[in-house]
Formats: sequence, C-alpha cells, structure tokens
Amino acid sequence: MVEPPSGPLQRPLPDGTVPETIVVRTEEHWIRIMVGMLVIMMVIIVLSSFVGALHPSSNVEVIDSRTLHLKGEFVESNLGTAVEPDGSVTVRLIAQQYDFVPRCVVVPAGTPVKFRLTSDDVIHGFLLPDTNVNTMVVPGFVAEVRTRFSEPGDYVMPCHEYCGLGHQAMWARVKVVPWQELAKQGRFERTSCAAQ
Ligand code: CUA
Repeated sequence: MVEPPSGPLQRPLPDGTVPETIVVRTEEHWIRIMVGMLVIMMVIIVLSSFVGALHPSSNVEVIDSRTLHLKGEFVESNLGTAVEPDGSVTVRLIAQQYDFVPRCVVVPAGTPVKFRLTSDDVIHGFLLPDTNVNTMVVPGFVAEVRTRFSEPGDYVMPCHEYCGLGHQAMWARVKVVPWQELAKQGRFERTSCAAQ
C-alpha cells in the first residue's frame, strides 16, 4: 500500500481550493511584477541622480576632527555669528554629544546666512523647522547650508540624527533679529543668547 506524502508541501490541496499550477503561475507572475518595479525604481534613482546632479546636502570638505579645538576655523573664538565683508553672515557651530556649541546664535533677518558645522565625535543632524536647513553633521567633514530668514523670530535647532543616549536633549536655538539689532551687538552677545 502507498503511503500518502507527509510533508505539508507534498500534500495535495484539498478539494475546492485553487489548483496548484494556478497558484504557482500567479506567484511567479507577481514576483516578476515586483522585480520589474524594483528595477524601474533603481533606474529612476540612478538616472535622476546623474541628470539632476543629486549629491549629499552638504559640500564634501574634509577637516581633522581631532584638532578642531586647537587650530583652524572651528577654534572656540571663531564659533558663532560672523559678518562677512559683503554683508552676508556666516555661522560656525560644532555639534558634539550632546550639545551644539554655541547653544544659541543671533542672525539677521533678510540677509544671506551660511551655516558651517562639523562634529567632533559622532554623526549628528542639524535642522531648522520651516526652512531649507536640514543636513547631517559628520565627523571629519564640514557641512554647509545656506538660507535666508525673511522674518525675525526664534528657531529651535534639534539634532535629528540619533547620536546616543542624550540625543533627545540635544538642541539649540537660532534667534533671528532685525539687521540693526545685530549690528549693535558685540561678538559675545551674538553667541550668548542661550543664557536668556
Ligand atoms: Cu546629536 Cu542626536
């Protein structure tokens, strides 16, 4: 006497269900559609990155994160808001576990503002809600973002890249003021608004 197959895959389907050949054909059909969709999406990503010259949001500028505090652009005395000869403003910040240095910067409204950031430990994120400012801050690289604030106001700048246990407490502020008010402030006041 022949034993019926015991494995679940060998057992015939019960009466009344879809025949096995149709099930197999349907599954193969859908696998082909899924693979086709994946291929189309990959082609779109690759082509659009070439055609639209897509690249990471920050420029690729390297820096030695071990000597940040000792020399170069990101020494402590050079951090915060600086007014350039052409009237634009550059803000330099360091992201570190779990703080931005400085914790608050003052920038003018209606003026081009360039943020330059770097990290001295792990990857952080830098985001100003309701603006185009959104970048990762990667150790060893300088992230640069340009924007212009149309109105005075306060912006929070949370770290939006998980960077460790204190990540959720890592945030700072950008205070946008009229140009005349910034011009009146000294260098120290432009970076000490955190205390207010
Ligand atoms: Cu820094 Cu999250």
